[in-house]
Amino acid sequence: MNGKNHQADACTMIIFGATGDLTKRKLFPALYNLAKDQFLPDSFAIVGVGRQEMTSEDFRSQMRGNLAEFVGKDVDESLIDWFAERTHYTGGDFAAKKTFSELKKLLKELDKKFDIPENYFFYLATPPALFGLVTEKVAELGLTAETEGWRRFIYEKPFGRDLESARALNAELKSLLNESQIYRIDHYLGKETVQNILVFRFGNSIFEPIWNRNYIDHVQITVAEKLGVEQRGGYYDTAGALRDMIPNHIFQLVTLTAMEPPISFEANAVRDEQAKILCAIQPFSPEDVLHKAVRGQYGDGVIEDAKKIAYRNEPNVPPQSNTETFAALKLSIDNWRWAGVPFYVRTGKRMAARHSEIVVQFKKAPFMLFRDTSIEKLTTNRITIHIQPDEGITLHFGAKIPGPLVNMGAVDMDFNYLDHFGEQVSTGYERLLYDCMTGDATLFQRADMVESSWQIVSPVLDVWQAIPARSFPNYPAGSWGPEESDALLAADGRKWKNTVD
Ligand code: BG6
Repeated sequence: MNGKNHQADACTMIIFGATGDLTKRKLFPALYNLAKDQFLPDSFAIVGVGRQEMTSEDFRSQMRGNLAEFVGKDVDESLIDWFAERTHYTGGDFAAKKTFSELKKLLKELDKKFDIPENYFFYLATPPALFGLVTEKVAELGLTAETEGWRRFIYEKPFGRDLESARALNAELKSLLNESQIYRIDHYLGKETVQNILVFRFGNSIFEPIWNRNYIDHVQITVAEKLGVEQRGGYYDTAGALRDMIPNHIFQLVTLTAMEPPISFEANAVRDEQAKILCAIQPFSPEDVLHKAVRGQYGDGVIEDAKKIAYRNEPNVPPQSNTETFAALKLSIDNWRWAGVPFYVRTGKRMAARHSEIVVQFKKAPFMLFRDTSIEKLTTNRITIHIQPDEGITLHFGAKIPGPLVNMGAVDMDFNYLDHFGEQVSTGYERLLYDCMTGDATLFQRADMVESSWQIVSPVLDVWQAIPARSFPNYPAGSWGPEESDALLAADGRKWKNTVD
């Protein structure tokens, strides 16, 4: 797509934590893709800020190497030169005033050089413990007030580790910024298929009339990963699967699937409807946690013929760790549309496949017509929204098997993004960065949404903390999680859809 007519505002992007993984793997490649498609204006600059001392020249040469590695072989050298001219670095201690006064000086120089009207967006790719401190230091320099240009702040996840810490962080940021300046990022909303849920549901007339408790039996949402905790054992062991994935990524998928049609694509119109779903999710009592929440931890196992070690043997994980690497919940959305329709959600590491999808399972058709045929059971209809690895949508239904007898086979009608739209070169961050530069907060979390999400999972976290798991590890690497996860659905006469077919 050519973005020349939709270029972002002239601005400077300031990345705190600029020497980290996120900057090199996602942020720079995303900026490169935006520039390639002409979404970035000429009046644009980047300032990396990190604790490491380094010259701008060193930072640029790192950036060149990283772009070559993460953008791939077709990287356009003239575009890299364009970036290099605009990329600067300043280093120092995040608690020191000097770091920030030097940053301010540099920003003024860049405003002049590139004709930027003091529009700044600060990207906090730092550990969350620094979110408050860095924002406070920026505020002390008078760089948060929107007297001249605009000032926006993106915060990476995790946003708090429970309700209390999320509330405290929201309160701290709101004492320094207006809510309209705060962009809480959730990279799931950068995924095309996730954004497509709204277009699919509300841009077509045939799905919405049946998208409710009269036709839908239940919804399943799975985000399964083959990867283990890699080098992130230290962080992961203090978080666990529930905190890491459910109140953020999985709740995005739940709210987009369940929400009412918003009155416009304006940020608050969309987020109001998402927020209503979060408020309608029935709170768990401690008793519910025992029956509607399942946790698991992977043991040794095999994935694609390769042996995988147990979670407790991963680097930086204590050998007696009680942290869950799998979590499943049965959610009830207590509103008119969804009363009586359970939403089962699950996520886990070291599962049998990398497989993220939303399955909308419809109710069975009445059987009586087929009583005297060879058909024993009707195929149930389902719509599957595939999020990764293959992005697309599948409609599953029954069809007559050709021949003299009435017999039925299950068939699929498939839409695959790749076939229709070709390969999209995207990191998933392009849209989110662009939206921040144009002031569109639709795909970012509002304070109330973050707090409601933590509120829903809090009772589960509390019960799990109070009663340590007795049978960890309880699923082998390379499986579909613990038996209790299957039992959660079996208790309702249902089954997880485990394979892509
Ligand atoms: C991150 C989690 O937010 O999302 C990781 O911290 C997880 O543990 C990742 O692996 C999954 O993202 P994706 O885009 O690979 O599904």
